[in-house]
Amino acid sequence: PTLKETVGKYFYIGAAVNTSCVWERNTVEANIVKDNFNSIVAENCMKGEIIHPEENRYDWRDADQTMTFAEKHGLTVFGHCLVWHSQPPRWMFTDDKGKPVTREVLIDRMYHHITTVVSHYRGRIKGWDVVNEAFNEDGTLRHTPYYNIIGPDYIELAFRFAHAADPNAELYYNDYNMSTPAKREGVCKLVRALKAKGIRIDAVGMQSHNGYNYPDLKQYEASIDSIAACGVKVQMTELDLNMLPNPKSFGGAEISQRYQYNKEYNPYVKGLDKKAQKVFDSRYLTLFDIYRRHAAQIERVTLWGVTDATSWLNDWPIPGRTNYPLLFDRAGKAKKVVKEIVK
Ligand code: XIL
Repeated sequence: PTLKETVGKYFYIGAAVNTSCVWERNTVEANIVKDNFNSIVAENCMKGEIIHPEENRYDWRDADQTMTFAEKHGLTVFGHCLVWHSQPPRWMFTDDKGKPVTREVLIDRMYHHITTVVSHYRGRIKGWDVVNEAFNEDGTLRHTPYYNIIGPDYIELAFRFAHAADPNAELYYNDYNMSTPAKREGVCKLVRALKAKGIRIDAVGMQSHNGYNYPDLKQYEASIDSIAACGVKVQMTELDLNMLPNPKSFGGAEISQRYQYNKEYNPYVKGLDKKAQKVFDSRYLTLFDIYRRHAAQIERVTLWGVTDATSWLNDWPIPGRTNYPLLFDRAGKAKKVVKEIVK
């Protein structure tokens, strides 16, 4: 049995797909998606920087093909994402002289972006990640350009605009490290506040960029329960398992250059050793066990990528590594643990 035939009975099971997959240039990945999953998310092509490169120009090519691929193969599409400080429309926050725009202008731009994108796919997308990664680890709102220019109400405005553009689409808030208690509390407060104002929100996405030693699974389960207690569904929106140790501090050219091919940060160049493979298997099994036990609260589980060959974790947070985060290996073969998951 496949993932969609088994765990797919409890919740949507899917993967983030890149453009090679949806244009079926990468036939290995396209076939994996058709055979094993019942839903997809665009890994990049529905993000602002790609779909809306200039104020008066949208580029629908890859996003439309994502829909074509999905509809041809009966896959449900989840939209990612409308408002995010990373990969935003590049022109969004400044005027033609390079000066930051006013609150009124940014609200207007955000309105047009959300309205145009959501209307373009009205009735064809199950739901949208409306706002992505708006919180700090301590549960306060991040000082992104949206926050700095508009103020904290940019979030509810985004949800209102999205709802008006497609009243039947579900609307989600999505973030990482959702097991951190303070962050989870901040997000739950937001959900309750939106609901109190009568603003539609259907689910919270716990990205679930997990590692071999994080998150604390007790906290992970606590987050599922807390989010569900706010009256929304939970979605595992970007599941993967980083099998390499993370550098002490993330990002920065200095770190990437210094450690790019450093064994210390890439110990499994020729594949995971036995011990690491065991950790990988048992962690995935435990995660899917948690998902099944919480099936009533969980709407979907989406893996962030199809095979290890194309996972973003080969390049993040350090470029040029060989990582093993997904359920299908570099050759496109289902890993052994999949047999256990579908039992
Ligand atoms: C990542 C993509 O996988 C990469 O290809 C891209 O270069 C950067 O973005 N959180 C998110 C996703 O919400 O959109 C990110 O996707 C991973 C982290």
